[in-house]
Amino acid sequence: MRRPIIAGNWKMFKTIAETKSFCDALIPAILGVDHCEIVVAPPFTALAAASEEVDGTRIAISSQDVFWESQGAFTGEVAVRMLVDAGCTYSIIGHSERRQFFGETDESVAKKTKAAIDGGLHAIVCVGELLAERDAGRAVEVVRRQVQEGLGKFSAKELSSITIAYEPVWAIGTGRTATPETAEEMHSEIRKTIAGIHAETAAAGIRILYGGSVKPDNIASLMAKENIDGALVGGASLDAMSFASIIKYL
Ligand code: PGA
Repeated sequence: MRRPIIAGNWKMFKTIAETKSFCDALIPAILGVDHCEIVVAPPFTALAAASEEVDGTRIAISSQDVFWESQGAFTGEVAVRMLVDAGCTYSIIGHSERRQFFGETDESVAKKTKAAIDGGLHAIVCVGELLAERDAGRAVEVVRRQVQEGLGKFSAKELSSITIAYEPVWAIGTGRTATPETAEEMHSEIRKTIAGIHAETAAAGIRILYGGSVKPDNIASLMAKENIDGALVGGASLDAMSFASIIKYL
Protein backbone atom coordinates (compact mmCIF):
# COMPACT_ATOMS: atom_id res chain seq x y z
CA MET A 1 0.00 0.00 0.00
CA ARG A 2 2.96 2.36 0.60
CA ARG A 3 4.86 2.80 -2.63
CA PRO A 4 8.62 2.77 -1.94
CA ILE A 5 10.78 5.78 -2.81
CA ILE A 6 14.49 5.60 -3.57
CA ALA A 7 15.90 9.12 -3.49
CA GLY A 8 19.45 10.28 -4.19
CA ASN A 9 20.73 13.35 -2.36
CA TRP A 10 23.75 14.69 -4.19
CA LYS A 11 24.56 17.34 -1.59
CA MET A 12 27.18 19.80 -2.95
CA PHE A 13 28.35 17.61 -5.82
CA LYS A 14 28.08 17.74 -9.64
CA THR A 15 28.14 20.46 -12.25
CA ILE A 16 25.61 20.69 -15.09
CA ALA A 17 27.85 18.60 -17.38
CA GLU A 18 28.29 15.97 -14.68
CA THR A 19 24.53 15.94 -14.11
CA LYS A 20 23.93 15.26 -17.81
CA SER A 21 26.36 12.37 -17.94
CA PHE A 22 24.85 10.89 -14.75
CA CYS A 23 21.37 10.99 -16.32
CA ASP A 24 22.65 9.51 -19.57
CA ALA A 25 23.96 6.53 -17.55
CA LEU A 26 21.06 6.17 -15.10
CA ILE A 27 18.13 6.32 -17.53
CA PRO A 28 18.97 3.18 -19.54
CA ALA A 29 20.04 1.36 -16.35
CA ILE A 30 16.62 1.65 -14.72
CA LEU A 31 14.39 1.05 -17.75
CA GLY A 32 11.52 -1.20 -16.76
CA VAL A 33 11.80 -0.53 -13.02
CA ASP A 34 8.34 0.16 -11.67
CA HIS A 35 8.36 -1.09 -8.06
CA CYS A 36 9.36 2.29 -6.62
CA GLU A 37 9.45 6.01 -7.16
CA ILE A 38 12.86 7.31 -8.19
CA VAL A 39 13.99 10.76 -7.08
CA VAL A 40 17.25 12.61 -7.70
CA ALA A 41 18.20 15.78 -5.78
CA PRO A 42 20.96 17.74 -7.57
CA PRO A 43 22.24 21.11 -6.33
CA PHE A 44 20.14 24.18 -7.29
CA THR A 45 22.37 25.04 -10.26
CA ALA A 46 21.74 21.68 -11.95
CA LEU A 47 18.00 21.34 -11.29
CA ALA A 48 16.76 22.70 -14.61
CA ALA A 49 19.29 20.66 -16.60
CA ALA A 50 18.40 17.51 -14.65
CA SER A 51 14.67 18.06 -15.25
CA GLU A 52 15.26 18.38 -18.97
CA GLU A 53 17.40 15.25 -19.01
CA VAL A 54 14.82 13.08 -17.22
CA ASP A 55 11.82 14.42 -19.12
CA GLY A 56 9.63 11.49 -20.21
CA THR A 57 11.27 9.05 -17.76
CA ARG A 58 10.07 7.89 -14.32
CA ILE A 59 12.78 9.87 -12.54
CA ALA A 60 11.56 12.85 -10.50
CA ILE A 61 13.69 15.82 -9.52
CA SER A 62 14.00 17.21 -6.01
CA SER A 63 15.69 20.25 -4.51
CA GLN A 64 17.78 19.81 -1.36
CA ASP A 65 16.19 22.77 0.41
CA VAL A 66 13.67 25.58 -0.16
CA PHE A 67 12.72 28.89 1.47
CA TRP A 68 9.20 29.55 2.80
CA GLU A 69 8.59 33.02 1.30
CA SER A 70 7.29 33.20 -2.26
CA GLN A 71 9.64 36.03 -3.31
CA GLY A 72 11.34 39.09 -1.89
CA ALA A 73 14.56 40.49 -0.48
CA PHE A 74 16.03 37.20 0.78
CA THR A 75 19.49 37.08 -0.75
CA GLY A 76 20.64 33.57 -1.55
CA GLU A 77 17.29 31.88 -1.01
CA VAL A 78 15.15 29.96 -3.52
CA ALA A 79 11.32 29.94 -3.50
CA VAL A 80 8.98 27.02 -4.16
CA ARG A 81 7.66 28.49 -7.39
CA MET A 82 11.21 28.82 -8.71
CA LEU A 83 11.81 25.13 -7.98
CA VAL A 84 8.56 24.17 -9.71
CA ASP A 85 9.63 26.36 -12.63
CA ALA A 86 12.94 24.45 -12.76
CA GLY A 87 11.03 21.15 -12.96
CA CYS A 88 11.13 19.99 -9.34
CA THR A 89 8.31 17.92 -7.90
CA TYR A 90 9.99 17.13 -4.56
CA SER A 91 12.03 19.03 -1.98
CA ILE A 92 14.19 17.63 0.79
CA ILE A 93 13.67 19.71 3.95
CA GLY A 94 15.52 19.83 7.27
CA HIS A 95 18.44 17.60 6.31
CA SER A 96 20.72 17.11 9.33
CA GLU A 97 23.51 19.01 7.55
CA ARG A 98 21.16 22.00 7.27
CA ARG A 99 20.19 21.61 10.93
CA GLN A 100 23.84 21.29 12.07
CA PHE A 101 25.63 23.80 9.84
CA PHE A 102 22.94 26.27 8.77
CA GLY A 103 20.82 26.72 11.86
CA GLU A 104 17.66 24.91 10.73
CA THR A 105 15.20 24.28 13.54
CA ASP A 106 12.00 22.28 13.89
CA GLU A 107 10.20 25.61 13.39
CA SER A 108 11.96 26.48 10.13
CA VAL A 109 11.41 22.90 8.95
CA ALA A 110 7.67 23.25 9.60
CA LYS A 111 7.49 26.59 7.74
CA LYS A 112 9.43 25.27 4.76
CA THR A 113 7.34 22.10 4.64
CA LYS A 114 4.11 24.13 4.67
CA ALA A 115 5.35 26.36 1.83
CA ALA A 116 6.57 23.38 -0.19
CA ILE A 117 3.33 21.42 -0.04
CA ASP A 118 1.14 24.50 -0.53
CA GLY A 119 3.16 25.19 -3.67
CA GLY A 120 2.62 21.67 -5.02
CA LEU A 121 5.88 19.97 -4.05
CA HIS A 122 6.16 16.68 -2.19
CA ALA A 123 8.26 17.26 0.92
CA ILE A 124 10.87 14.78 2.17
CA VAL A 125 11.32 15.89 5.77
CA CYS A 126 14.45 14.65 7.52
CA VAL A 127 14.75 13.77 11.18
CA GLY A 128 17.45 11.96 13.13
CA GLU A 129 19.47 12.01 16.34
CA LEU A 130 23.13 12.86 16.93
CA LEU A 131 25.54 10.19 18.19
CA ALA A 132 25.71 11.86 21.63
CA GLU A 133 21.91 11.78 21.84
CA ARG A 134 21.81 8.07 20.98
CA ASP A 135 24.60 7.28 23.43
CA ALA A 136 22.69 9.16 26.12
CA GLY A 137 19.62 7.00 25.42
CA ARG A 138 17.69 9.98 24.06
CA ALA A 139 17.35 8.96 20.39
CA VAL A 140 13.61 8.24 20.48
CA GLU A 141 12.86 11.37 22.50
CA VAL A 142 14.79 13.59 20.05
CA VAL A 143 13.24 12.11 16.93
CA ARG A 144 9.76 12.15 18.45
CA ARG A 145 10.19 15.87 19.18
CA GLN A 146 11.40 16.56 15.63
CA VAL A 147 8.34 14.76 14.22
CA GLN A 148 5.89 16.44 16.61
CA GLU A 149 7.31 19.96 16.21
CA GLY A 150 8.05 19.68 12.51
CA LEU A 151 4.93 17.85 11.37
CA GLY A 152 2.49 18.06 14.26
CA LYS A 153 0.42 20.92 12.84
CA PHE A 154 -0.29 19.43 9.44
CA SER A 155 -3.67 18.00 8.53
CA ALA A 156 -4.01 14.37 7.50
CA LYS A 157 -4.56 15.59 3.92
CA GLU A 158 -1.33 17.62 4.03
CA LEU A 159 0.52 14.59 5.37
CA SER A 160 -0.20 12.81 2.11
CA SER A 161 2.26 15.26 0.48
CA ILE A 162 4.94 14.50 3.05
CA THR A 163 7.46 11.70 3.36
CA ILE A 164 9.67 11.38 6.43
CA ALA A 165 13.34 10.43 6.15
CA TYR A 166 14.91 9.00 9.30
CA GLU A 167 18.63 9.66 9.09
CA PRO A 168 20.62 9.01 12.26
CA VAL A 169 23.41 11.60 12.06
CA TRP A 170 26.04 9.06 13.20
CA ALA A 171 25.26 6.95 10.12
CA ILE A 172 25.52 9.72 7.50
CA GLY A 173 28.64 9.55 5.37
CA THR A 174 30.35 7.38 7.99
CA GLY A 175 29.90 3.96 6.45
CA ARG A 176 28.22 3.00 9.74
CA THR A 177 24.68 2.08 8.64
CA ALA A 178 22.06 1.57 11.32
CA THR A 179 21.25 -2.13 11.44
CA PRO A 180 17.90 -2.92 9.84
CA GLU A 181 16.63 -3.69 13.38
CA THR A 182 17.74 -0.31 14.80
CA ALA A 183 16.25 1.52 11.83
CA GLU A 184 13.00 -0.46 12.01
CA GLU A 185 12.67 0.29 15.71
CA MET A 186 12.86 4.04 15.08
CA HIS A 187 10.61 3.88 12.00
CA SER A 188 7.97 2.16 14.07
CA GLU A 189 8.34 4.86 16.79
CA ILE A 190 7.91 7.55 14.14
CA ARG A 191 4.76 5.86 12.83
CA LYS A 192 3.41 5.63 16.39
CA THR A 193 4.16 9.33 16.90
CA ILE A 194 2.19 10.19 13.76
CA ALA A 195 -0.63 7.93 14.95
CA GLY A 196 -0.65 9.87 18.23
CA ILE A 197 -1.23 13.12 16.34
CA HIS A 198 -3.45 11.88 13.50
CA ALA A 199 -5.70 8.96 12.75
CA GLU A 200 -4.19 5.50 12.35
CA THR A 201 -4.89 5.67 8.61
CA ALA A 202 -2.61 8.71 8.18
CA ALA A 203 0.11 6.95 10.15
CA ALA A 204 -0.31 3.77 8.13
CA GLY A 205 -0.11 5.69 4.86
CA ILE A 206 2.90 7.92 5.46
CA ARG A 207 6.16 6.75 3.95
CA ILE A 208 9.27 6.68 6.11
CA LEU A 209 12.61 6.44 4.33
CA TYR A 210 15.88 5.40 5.94
CA GLY A 211 19.07 7.34 5.23
CA GLY A 212 22.65 6.92 6.38
CA SER A 213 25.29 4.92 4.49
CA VAL A 214 22.76 3.08 2.32
CA LYS A 215 24.70 1.04 -0.25
CA PRO A 216 23.91 -1.57 -2.92
CA ASP A 217 24.82 -4.34 -0.46
CA ASN A 218 22.63 -3.25 2.48
CA ILE A 219 19.51 -1.87 0.77
CA ALA A 220 17.69 -5.21 0.50
CA SER A 221 17.94 -6.01 4.21
CA LEU A 222 16.69 -2.52 5.10
CA MET A 223 13.81 -2.71 2.60
CA ALA A 224 12.75 -6.06 4.05
CA LYS A 225 11.61 -4.31 7.22
CA GLU A 226 7.93 -3.59 7.60
CA ASN A 227 8.19 0.14 8.38
CA ILE A 228 11.04 1.03 6.00
CA ASP A 229 9.48 2.44 2.85
CA GLY A 230 12.55 3.46 0.91
CA ALA A 231 15.90 5.18 1.21
CA LEU A 232 17.49 8.60 1.04
CA VAL A 233 20.93 7.89 -0.35
CA GLY A 234 23.89 10.28 -0.23
CA GLY A 235 27.35 9.07 -1.27
CA ALA A 236 26.16 5.94 -3.08
CA SER A 237 23.76 7.99 -5.24
CA LEU A 238 26.58 9.92 -6.92
CA ASP A 239 27.55 7.04 -9.16
CA ALA A 240 24.78 6.14 -11.62
CA MET A 241 25.51 2.40 -11.57
CA SER A 242 25.63 2.22 -7.78
CA PHE A 243 22.38 4.24 -7.53
CA ALA A 244 20.77 2.01 -10.17
CA SER A 245 21.63 -1.10 -8.20
CA ILE A 246 20.11 0.43 -5.05
CA ILE A 247 16.96 1.25 -7.06
CA LYS A 248 16.86 -2.38 -8.24
CA TYR A 249 17.09 -3.75 -4.68
CA LEU A 250 14.41 -6.39 -5.26
P1 PGA B 1 25.05 8.96 3.01
O1 PGA B 1 24.13 10.28 3.17
O2 PGA B 1 24.25 7.96 2.24
O3 PGA B 1 26.26 9.43 2.30
O4 PGA B 1 25.34 8.47 4.41
C1 PGA B 1 22.76 10.18 3.40
C2 PGA B 1 22.15 11.56 3.49
O5 PGA B 1 22.77 12.45 4.09
O6 PGA B 1 21.04 11.81 2.99
